[in-house]
Amino acid sequence: MTGLFQKKTLDKIIAESEGGQVHLKRTLGPVNLVALGIGAIIGAGLFSLTGIAAADHAGPAVVISFVVAAIGCAFAGMCYSEFSTMIPIAGSAYTYAYATMGELLAWIIGWDLVIEYAIGSATVSVSWSSYVTKLLHRFGIDLPNALTHCPWDDQAGLINLPAVFVIVAISCLLMIGISESARVNAIIVVVKLTIVVIVICVGYSYINPQNYVPFIPPNTGPGEFGWSGIMRGAGVIFFAYIGFDAVSTAAQEAKKPQRDMPIGIIGSLVVCTILYILFARVLTGMVPYRTFHNDAAPVGTVISLFPSQTLQTAIYFGIIAGYSSVILVMLLGQSRVFYSMSRDGLLPAVFSYIHPKFQTPYRSNLIVGCFAALLSGFVPISNLSHFTSIGTLLAFVIVCIGIVVMRKTNPDAQRPYRTPLVPLVPILGVLVCFSMMYFLDSMTWLRLGVWLLIGLGIYFFYSRHHSHLRH
Ligand code: ALA
Repeated sequence: MTGLFQKKTLDKIIAESEGGQVHLKRTLGPVNLVALGIGAIIGAGLFSLTGIAAADHAGPAVVISFVVAAIGCAFAGMCYSEFSTMIPIAGSAYTYAYATMGELLAWIIGWDLVIEYAIGSATVSVSWSSYVTKLLHRFGIDLPNALTHCPWDDQAGLINLPAVFVIVAISCLLMIGISESARVNAIIVVVKLTIVVIVICVGYSYINPQNYVPFIPPNTGPGEFGWSGIMRGAGVIFFAYIGFDAVSTAAQEAKKPQRDMPIGIIGSLVVCTILYILFARVLTGMVPYRTFHNDAAPVGTVISLFPSQTLQTAIYFGIIAGYSSVILVMLLGQSRVFYSMSRDGLLPAVFSYIHPKFQTPYRSNLIVGCFAALLSGFVPISNLSHFTSIGTLLAFVIVCIGIVVMRKTNPDAQRPYRTPLVPLVPILGVLVCFSMMYFLDSMTWLRLGVWLLIGLGIYFFYSRHHSHLRH
């Protein structure tokens, strides 16, 4: 039984990351890391879920939902920063849990991160596909329903081919190399930020103050308007913030992780929070919030008010580019977490094989890419954004607890960045993140439970017998 709670020492973790013949390359600076964060953060959450959260849960007060979610992320972000500077290697929350709470919890969190990264990337790719289909329609090209929908979503679909395409293309890019990927990501991020700023600035002049009344619509049931609606809205649009933690998975490829990880994590979070609040305020000011009911492309709805067709088309392009970088960072994060789990023996060695020329864990990229492509092509996962959110929130809760544990067990370890006011900040992080989980629907909780049970099965049948720490 004790083996389940066996921990890796910090020295061992750092030594292992530096050992071996072939390493991951340290090529990323602070600007790359902030760009990596923004690249992962702004995507389907902002461009799809803002409208749904306003229409069904929070009304114009969706801006408060954005603030609540940002507060939870800020607390968790500080904890992630402390860990990522102490343990600047690829596995992120998984590695931190291994060092603080032992092997079983590390496995659980590694398995949980699959929800965030692999399933999250597939979710975004399905939305990407719908925006691409709409853009092609503007150019008079209509793809058949059979090739743009999966078999189970009432649209006579066979396979969601554009979604599969984007996952395969980005996986290939990641196999070629991290610095090439970061360069492409930086370009995409500039395009995406420009589009968000344009929508805010142009949309501002279309605001009708009447649309903000009532600001908090009266409650009509659990999670429907009023304060419980604002909290449910926060759990829903939390998806929009997922990604800043992905910066920490690139710690082993950062040039100066001690200085640059907090800049990458907190910096990208601050930029996105400001933009989100402005964006949500403009969106809910342009049309009555109920207009967004069942509207997965609320930005398309509001920009149809803009007179310039060219501007509308450019915004579509920006959104599509924005989605691509989210998928890129998520697939990157997933392959790096598997890389770390495999180096520990909890997953087969194929996940940590590094390509001698490209210096990337390309087999891990390949396997993750195939898994995500299958999901995006054949599973109706667009409604699984809640599942991605709850999985990520669980990871945040465990990381916050980990900081308190680590301060007790390794009080003298070097901490180039220290989370302020421990244990207050981590406890507040747990409380805010858990309350967002609490307000999510029961089906989402059920899915999380089933997923964790499958993970435990794999752990007890495979991983614990192959764990390097045990041998
Ligand atoms: N935050 C990412 C998005 O909104 C996952 O697409």
